[in-house]
Amino acid sequence: MDQYRVFGNPIKQSRSPIIHQSFAEQTQQQLNYQSEYVELDQFEQTVKDFAKNGGKGANITVPFKEQALRICDQLTERARLAGAVNTLCFVDGKILGDNTDGQGLVQDLLNNKVQLKTSRILLLGAGGAAKGVILPLLAQLPESIVIANRTIAKAENLIKQFNNKKLSALGFAELGDEKFDLIINATSASLSGNVPPIAKELAVNTYCYDMVYGNELTPFLQWAKDNGATKVMDGLGMLVGQAAESFRIWRDVHPEVISVLHQLR
Ligand code: ATR
Repeated sequence: MDQYRVFGNPIKQSRSPIIHQSFAEQTQQQLNYQSEYVELDQFEQTVKDFAKNGGKGANITVPFKEQALRICDQLTERARLAGAVNTLCFVDGKILGDNTDGQGLVQDLLNNKVQLKTSRILLLGAGGAAKGVILPLLAQLPESIVIANRTIAKAENLIKQFNNKKLSALGFAELGDEKFDLIINATSASLSGNVPPIAKELAVNTYCYDMVYGNELTPFLQWAKDNGATKVMDGLGMLVGQAAESFRIWRDVHPEVISVLHQLR
């Protein structure tokens, strides 16, 4: 049976095996997908051993996504621009790297009937999570994407790499009274119970998305709801979406995500 893995550290919390198992059942694919804990200094060796032993593909999660990029023989443009790889394919002794996170986000937003074309998007954060979604968001032809970050220099550096007129960089305090259609929280603030310090007026009549997910509303989504957001969405749909895109790459079939998302909730 074809073998797949998700490699990470930590990995116990990973939902990827359940998601891919559901996709496999749904599409009647015969495959085995497991999570594997990798010691911090063993990443490259572990991946190469898995490939040598016939592994077909792998997902890569924290903290190995940047390292994964460096061991690939070939990269997709979206992986190169994201500076990180979350999906590997092993083909003819070569390692092919892709990044499906941004596509997962876009697909989840579209599934939630959020219009991206001609929309004004505020992206909070300028770390790896933000970087990974910029190209797929641009591909949806928004009017503009403002990247706001606590450390402004990081947001400025980020937009330099993309060289696209639709992108601009600001600090949180510089966000004036411009209205956005969609605010995406790509900071890790929710993980420590914090909300990026932006004016509460920005949430009014806006779609708000947090890449973080949990059993309860994240601090950012609670803030958004309290301040009049039209709709709040957490990142569980992005997780299922990125998995679906990896599955498509490996198996050449599009799994259906909504039922799997309901199952997880
Ligand atoms: P990730 O891969 O999750 O993006 P990262 O590269 O460490 O992780 O980036 C974390 C992001 O969350 C950064 O944009 C960080 O802001 P700084 O660049 O100023 O450090 C942001 N962040 C983390 N905690 C935050 C908080 N409490 N308030 C606002 N932004 C926060």
